[in-house]
Amino acid sequence: MTEVLAAMGLAERAVREAMARVLPEDLSGRDALVRPSEHADFQSNVGLALAKEAGRPPRDLAEALRSELAAGPFAADVSGPGFLNLRLADRLLWAQVTARLAAPRLGVGLPLAGSRTVIDYSAPNIAKEMHVGHLRTTVIGDSLVRVLSFLGGEVVRQNHLGDWGTQFGMLIQYLDEHPEAGWHGRAEQGDAAAQVALLDTLYRAARKEFERDQDFVERARGRVVALQSGDEATTGAWRELVAVSTAAFQQLYDRLGVLLTEADSAGESTYNHLLDEVAEELLHSGAAVESDGALCVFFEDVTGPDGAPVPLIVRKKDGGYGYAATDLATLRHRVRELRADRILYVVDARQSLHFKMVFATARRAGWLPAGVEAVHVPFGTVMGPGGTPFKTREGGTVRLAELLDAAVAAAHRAVADKPHELSEAELDDVARAAGIGAVKYADLSTSRTKNYVFDIDQMVSLQGNTGVYLQYAHARLRTLLGKAQAVDPAPEVDPGLPLEPAERALILQLEGFGQVLREVADEAEPHRLAGYLFALAKALTEFYGSCPVLKADTPARRANRLALCRLTADTLAQGLDLLGLRAPERM
Ligand code: ARG
Repeated sequence: MTEVLAAMGLAERAVREAMARVLPEDLSGRDALVRPSEHADFQSNVGLALAKEAGRPPRDLAEALRSELAAGPFAADVSGPGFLNLRLADRLLWAQVTARLAAPRLGVGLPLAGSRTVIDYSAPNIAKEMHVGHLRTTVIGDSLVRVLSFLGGEVVRQNHLGDWGTQFGMLIQYLDEHPEAGWHGRAEQGDAAAQVALLDTLYRAARKEFERDQDFVERARGRVVALQSGDEATTGAWRELVAVSTAAFQQLYDRLGVLLTEADSAGESTYNHLLDEVAEELLHSGAAVESDGALCVFFEDVTGPDGAPVPLIVRKKDGGYGYAATDLATLRHRVRELRADRILYVVDARQSLHFKMVFATARRAGWLPAGVEAVHVPFGTVMGPGGTPFKTREGGTVRLAELLDAAVAAAHRAVADKPHELSEAELDDVARAAGIGAVKYADLSTSRTKNYVFDIDQMVSLQGNTGVYLQYAHARLRTLLGKAQAVDPAPEVDPGLPLEPAERALILQLEGFGQVLREVADEAEPHRLAGYLFALAKALTEFYGSCPVLKADTPARRANRLALCRLTADTLAQGLDLLGLRAPERM
């Protein structure tokens, strides 16, 4: 493995080595408490933290560590009540740049090697169009898949499609009774997306009829029974609904550039044959009890407004299973069959009580052993322009495909307005990368649990914390590197050159890449990576401001700066890829 230990790791190692020489054995293995610092590259508070136990004044302890460190590649001093400030030698920072450029994967290690994570994300519902509510789960889940895999983890993608339930009996009945609605014999009418749009409309019509016509309710119930008991014609109709919807979802996934394929689909119906067994096991283990004819799980800490316990209903009074039973069977399957040691559920924050109860039930039943972690990864809501939940003028949900169209059009205008040398075809391609990227980035850069307002103009802005801004920063670097290539094809880094402050700041920022990816993986928070990339682009702007590259005053300085530009471009491109954004070479 060719991991390049990051600057902060080097600082930690140096402080630990000094601790081993200065402190008694029982204290020398403690955390070195190294953090990035404004006063130096890094600061350690270990002098303060361990002074008491070491039986010496903090400044004194810090001073002893400092004098040990003086022999190494860090310049150290002590400030305040006993802070240890560390500054890495210029030579060593240049060496880091060289090593990262030469290493595969920018020298980032594989800390997740040997782990196996199931990620549950996207999960739209069959016979309905994907709407803005599915955007967050889809892009956050996709980024987590990418980051965990990049860090060496094994990742199993699971698309828990909403493909089962009494609503399908109702819809199939309605479609049969209304040949004039155009569902049957629609074969030549447009693509999957258009067909799902039609289904979405018919579904709503079916609901209306269901609400108003008692006879239809009866016939729909009959269809539900037919579907559940495997009636040939009914399951055939259902399979068709699933196929059309899945094809339409796939079109959107491809357009969004997310990694999901049909092979990742394991819809709710996948678990139907396990539900009886799951209920049985829950009853036997005592995790669930019969209550009022239903099979329920009760929790001490889950009560309604009246203080009465609110159960998780595994099986309804009428014998039917719902969302909860399916999720229990799914979880059991993910641990037993898929051998997950971590399961991430990227699902709307409004479902947190559901997951709390499902996880607690699974623990009780012994399906979630101690070494396995099940985590609900909740996210906030996408709001409309007024800061209220996003709805169409008619009060309906907003179709995702339409939003993407609008974003690509806006990005096209924004890119075309800037001076550029792109052909028409290149411009179209860049607009797609920028428009789709803008939507994804706006979502991913928002602190995961916060709501955000969907504002296309702001999303495609070339200024500020946007995907387009980062893509431009990357493309500008590639253009610069292309020009340099012509003059100086193989620049080599001279580690003996002193660092300018802006160069130093940029290198230190680049050195933080692996650390931020580990944080994204641990906390399941891609917005940390977005924030990192934005800070990197800002450090790059500072660098441009004070350090001419092509016009550097000596060839050696130009070579060093070109290396720095190349590492920055590669890091931006890699980071954007891990967010699921494209990084065009030219814009
Ligand atoms: N289909 C569900 C919805 O649209 C989301 C499913 C999430 N995953 C799960 N295992 N429950 O709300």
